[in-house]
Amino acid sequence: MLEFYEPQADYGTPASVSENLVTLSVDGVEITVPEGTSVMRAAAENGVKIPRLCATDQLKSFGSCRVCLVEIEGRRGFPASCTTNVEAGMAVTTQSDAIGKLRRNVMELYISDHPLDCLTCPTNGDCELQDTAGELGLRSVRYGFEGDNHLVAEKDESNPYFTFDPSKCIVCSRCVRACEEVQGTFALTIEGRGFESKVSASQAEDFMDSECVSCGACVNACPTATLTEKSIIEVGKPEHSVTTTCAYCGVGCSFKAEMKGNQVVRMTPYKDGKANEGHACVKGRFAFGYATHKDRITVPMIRDSIDDPWREVSWDEAVTYAAKRFKDIQAQYGRTSIGAISSSRCTNEEVYLVQKMVRAGFGNNNIDTCARVCHSPTGFGLKTTLGESAGTQTFASVAEADVVVVMGANPTEAHPVFGSRLKRRLREGAKLIVIDPRKIELVSSPHITADYHLPVRPGTNVTILNALAHVVVNEGLEARDYIQERCDVAEFEKWLAFIGDERHSPENTESITGVPAADLRGAARLYATGGNGAIFYGLGVTEHSQGSTAVMGIANLAMLTGNIGRDGVGVNPLRGQNNVQGSCDMGSFPHELPGYRHISDQTTRALFEGEWGVSLDSEPGLRIPNMFDAALDGEFKGLYCQGEDIAQSDPNTQHVEAALRSIECLVVQDIFLNETAKFAHVFLPGASFLEKDGTFTNAERRISRVRKAMPPLSGKADWEGTMALANALGCKMDYSHPSQIMDEIARLTPTFNGVSYDRLEVLGSIQWPCNENTPDGTPIMHVDEFVRGKGFFAMTEYVPSAERANRKFPLLLTTGRILSQYNVGAQTRRTENSEWHGEDVLEIHPHDAEERGINHGDWVGINSRVGDTVLRADVTDRVKPGVVYTTFHHPVSGANVITTDNSDWATNCPEYKVTAVQIGKVTQPSNWQARQKSFDKQQQGLLQDARH
Ligand code: SF4
Ligand code: SF4
Ligand code: SF4
Ligand code: FES
Repeated sequence: MLEFYEPQADYGTPASVSENLVTLSVDGVEITVPEGTSVMRAAAENGVKIPRLCATDQLKSFGSCRVCLVEIEGRRGFPASCTTNVEAGMAVTTQSDAIGKLRRNVMELYISDHPLDCLTCPTNGDCELQDTAGELGLRSVRYGFEGDNHLVAEKDESNPYFTFDPSKCIVCSRCVRACEEVQGTFALTIEGRGFESKVSASQAEDFMDSECVSCGACVNACPTATLTEKSIIEVGKPEHSVTTTCAYCGVGCSFKAEMKGNQVVRMTPYKDGKANEGHACVKGRFAFGYATHKDRITVPMIRDSIDDPWREVSWDEAVTYAAKRFKDIQAQYGRTSIGAISSSRCTNEEVYLVQKMVRAGFGNNNIDTCARVCHSPTGFGLKTTLGESAGTQTFASVAEADVVVVMGANPTEAHPVFGSRLKRRLREGAKLIVIDPRKIELVSSPHITADYHLPVRPGTNVTILNALAHVVVNEGLEARDYIQERCDVAEFEKWLAFIGDERHSPENTESITGVPAADLRGAARLYATGGNGAIFYGLGVTEHSQGSTAVMGIANLAMLTGNIGRDGVGVNPLRGQNNVQGSCDMGSFPHELPGYRHISDQTTRALFEGEWGVSLDSEPGLRIPNMFDAALDGEFKGLYCQGEDIAQSDPNTQHVEAALRSIECLVVQDIFLNETAKFAHVFLPGASFLEKDGTFTNAERRISRVRKAMPPLSGKADWEGTMALANALGCKMDYSHPSQIMDEIARLTPTFNGVSYDRLEVLGSIQWPCNENTPDGTPIMHVDEFVRGKGFFAMTEYVPSAERANRKFPLLLTTGRILSQYNVGAQTRRTENSEWHGEDVLEIHPHDAEERGINHGDWVGINSRVGDTVLRADVTDRVKPGVVYTTFHHPVSGANVITTDNSDWATNCPEYKVTAVQIGKVTQPSNWQARQKSFDKQQQGLLQDARH
């Protein structure tokens, strides 16, 4: 829905959650509000705006500007309405001559040290100082501009996204408080006193050199033009806005895309967004420029071989060509010789259409998704133990947690808005246990120190989880009543005999995990006895050969301590990509129809057969790694890959590249010529999230609307592209809007029965399951009983990975993400975010570096059993001796040239987190890097030829 631009409503101070109500009068009108509400907010909620400068409803009230003074019957003086809470029977007057005079006096002082350049100021018309001066009827300033002032203070332009112009600062400290309270970074301070006081980033540094992580919370909070987005300065104020959902990570933040015509001027975090409540990170807030980057490909292209130049063609010609080649391949090699990979970046509706095209159009189940390489063990592990393949909580429920376990996740880098929420709870006193081979930021950051950091050796998560459960059981700390009532007791007893064995004790596992027994015992006791215990985990748990076992170990631990089924507890996978939950929900796995129903189930198949008018194959299809193997065996010849860069993101790059080269028709639908598209024969131009309607489902199972803010640059949204290809294949599809696709999903999927675009319009977002029993959705799962009935304690025997360190490969490489870049970096590398992270580096401990004569910044070769690459060394004690770490955001880094084919026993999720390597100083790129560079040059040339 397109709305005229206006700033989001601000009630001055945060809402009170008290259930007790208080009645008072404001300007003679009786009103009733929750106890604990400020007078300012009570008035605002009832339509009376009290002027303010230092207050905003995103921050605790502060009471420094004195503009919000009111009169309260029976009280002396003029109390500040932002710091005075309502009381029963209170009579408040917000306007009088005396109040007006006082407020104008204060404003005069502010204005006397403020440039009077309103007409040319970038925030003219969107400035609280200007508005307040107007509201107070300020017509002149008695003090003049002579004498000391700050009008010549120098601007700080160092941040690529916002400007800091101290000449306009009124030292209200909203920015400082936003950085502390909302973001939790503590990068800003007010330095000096009185007239000398000023805002300072870290130790009086530029924003770029400071600890600032560019979340933009201070910019949101600033009531003047001091902190302003550069896009606003360059383009001007927005005209209208569209409420939509971030397309980066699985937090699923809501935003107002603020527009001028079809141009995004600013992305402002939406206060009513339940996942983010008005906060954002540098990616969603600022890194939207990729959507209109010059590298966007907006015209379909075809070619017969990957050494041919591309030929730009119409959509019709492209899909007809692709359909013919797919049909020819099937005629020659058989029905199962083609398949598709759906995208966790695309909408639910788009993913649904891709799997529908495969099952109904290709006539097989060769559909898989990038969740294969991240959270497929979550699906398997949670379904097995709890009965549903999804996290159990809302993000907001962490506010009720007393002990938080963060395992194999790095929320402040990869899920930053949740990271800020978690930090807030930790500052309030919740305890923290971090299980991670690296010293992630949460281990020690301003005002936060983890109670336990268990620096687990990569590959031994299952041993750690077993040892934690062993301590709980052997010290009698388990929740017996909960288990008796909620779990399969016979299975529990079997598991008890297994876990109680001394081989799982912290003392006996210390040599395997590298974690001191005393710390492990302490952490187990804290989690079991510290009140509400919540576990948040990430790819550091799943991307192992025992990923599914570890997920089941986490679920066991939570059931064992009674920590599932209410606020503040639970098992919470932090999902990587924006719609990875949705892509799994929508039937992207080769063995499951939408809603995680097995393809072999005849009743479910009949339901879909009835709706789609085809008969469906009952045999599960190929998983992504099987597709690669089958391609190399000459049995898999055609692939449709939507919004996923398998050539960069999947392990053992050389194996993947060989498989892609052997495919006869590779159709890639994407917004850029990504690494995979360089092997493609048909390129269908994709649409960014700003160019389409649909829904994303975040890590909380929250379905949120994605709304079109601009027309698709290629003329088609991705769902329209898939529909065109399906129709060319003879698989009839006829949708005119994604809402019709959602209606079909809801008809066919019990957990989505109650979801529709109309309902989303009313509720804002919906956490599935949503059906006739739960028409408003399900924030907390497994409340009275587990979805599977009784909770199942799965056996979690530790089977070590085949990948071991030895004399030839003595170090263990593990991988992860960084705040400013996203996944394969295709989007963020095309924004100013690269100023923070222009290349991937290898973190290595000083001892390991010294042994090898490696200095900080040296080029180092990294050799594994499958390949080698070269990166620059970052010598740091963030990693422990024996472990090295890198990110994978830049194609040329070749991080996946060295990762192996090992994968999770249950789901084939690759073991990205454990690769045995040797490191040594080198002077030139690896052979693969040299080949990659020349292949890239060739392919860019072929693209340019087409464009000319
Ligand atoms: S952008 Fe965020 S991290 Fe940086 S100073 Fe502002 S609030 Fe703090
Ligand atoms: S920069 Fe803005 S928010 Fe910060 S103190 Fe100055 S006016 Fe207030
Ligand atoms: S936390 Fe994730 S969803 Fe939120 S703004 Fe950042 S990238 Fe987007
Ligand atoms: S708004 Fe109340 S003192 Fe500033």
